[in-house]
Formats: sequence, structure tokens, C-alpha cells
Amino acid sequence: MSFRATILTLYPDMFPGFLGQSLSGKAMERGDWSLETVQIRDFATDKHRSVDDTPSGGGAGMVLRPDILGQAIDSIASDERPRLLMSPRGKPLTQARVRELADGSGVVIVCGRFEGVDQRVIDGRNLEEVSIGDYVLSGGEPAAMILLDAVVRVLPGVMGNDQSGVHESFESGLLEHPHYTRPAEWEGRTIPDVLTSGNHAKIEKWRHEEALKLTQERRPDLIQALKK
Ligand code: ADE
Repeated sequence: MSFRATILTLYPDMFPGFLGQSLSGKAMERGDWSLETVQIRDFATDKHRSVDDTPSGGGAGMVLRPDILGQAIDSIASDERPRLLMSPRGKPLTQARVRELADGSGVVIVCGRFEGVDQRVIDGRNLEEVSIGDYVLSGGEPAAMILLDAVVRVLPGVMGNDQSGVHESFESGLLEHPHYTRPAEWEGRTIPDVLTSGNHAKIEKWRHEEALKLTQERRPDLIQALKK
């Protein structure tokens, strides 16, 4: 059974977007995963097909109505797939959570718009809020695509049996060491001698040290996490 993603959105035309290209696009063509969209607006009940309303208690922006979104969620046959809500209020996405999601049968993803989503539908439909970083997008759609990109590339068979998934950033808890390829000299810059020495033990040691140095400099929080 292949991985199934169902996206609830007001902008279904944004999909598959870049997910239709490159690695994820090829994986989709092979049937390793599938994507379907549900237009939330199809569940609106009034003649203006409105899906949002002003915030209770006042303030700026609009809030997605729980009745409309609830109906949209309930239109999806209930299964064991986790239901995510893309939101800057969510728990930050990690490579570990990406792996867990890829181990399952799929995801249902609600893309928020406006100022937010009525809290009762988050609670009542058990939505797991997920953030892709501490910045605010205009909607959850690009965030959903980024999450799916990260998940699809670690699905069984998608990256092939090469090792490139094992050595990459975050899998070891560290950022990656620098990479080089030919030419041996470019604009007066050379490749570190160790990399052309043929001594694999020395190369591994150098790469680990460089990864540690870079991580210490840019992401001391990751070093702290490794110590726990
Ligand atoms: N929607 C808007 N901003 C977001 C973010 N940072 N992460 C996930 N969803 C979002």
C-alpha cells in the first residue's frame, strides 16, 4: 500500500506544485505515493460560500469556521492516518517526526489561512499542529508541500538504496561537512588534501570534525541536544 496524502485547502490549484517534479514527482508517477486535494469551500452552506468569520472577542483578521472545516474533515473516510494542521503555532517539524510520518500509511493535512482556525475543530477533530519554522507564511499550503517533500524522499524505495540519506544533516544530529568535487583548483581555491589522500579513515575523521565545528558555530542547540 502506498503512502496517501489528502490536503484540505482553499487553494487546491497550488498542488502538486513542485511535488510534481524531480524526486517526488517521479515517485508519484511510480505510485510510491499519491496526493488528493479537498476544497474546503465545497462544504460552505450559504450562497456566498463563505468559510470564515470575524474573531469572537474582536480583533483583526478572520477565523476559519469550525462547522465548515469539520464537515470537510468528516468527508474523508476515517482511517488511522494522522491529521495535521499546518500552523506557525505548531510543534516544530523535525527529521524524526518526518521519519515517523513516512513509516505510516499517509497523512491528512489541513492548510490554514486567515488568522487561524476555530480552536474547537482543532480539539474536536484531534488536529496535530505542525510548524515548519519560526516565521509566518500567508497560508499552510507551502508548509504542507515542504512537509510532504521531506516525507516522500524518505519513503521506502524513493531514494534508492544509496547511502545519501544516512549521512545527511540531522540524521546524525549534526549539520553536514563541506563537499567538494572537481576541478582540483577553482579560482585559486583548492580541495583539502585529506579528501584526495585516499585514506578513508582519515577522510571520515576529517568530515566528522568539520561537521562538529560547523554545528557548534551555527547550531549550538543541536550539540546541546546530542549531550542529553
Ligand atoms: N502557516 C503559516 N506559517 C506557517 C509555518 N511557519 N509553519 C506551518 N504552517 C504555517
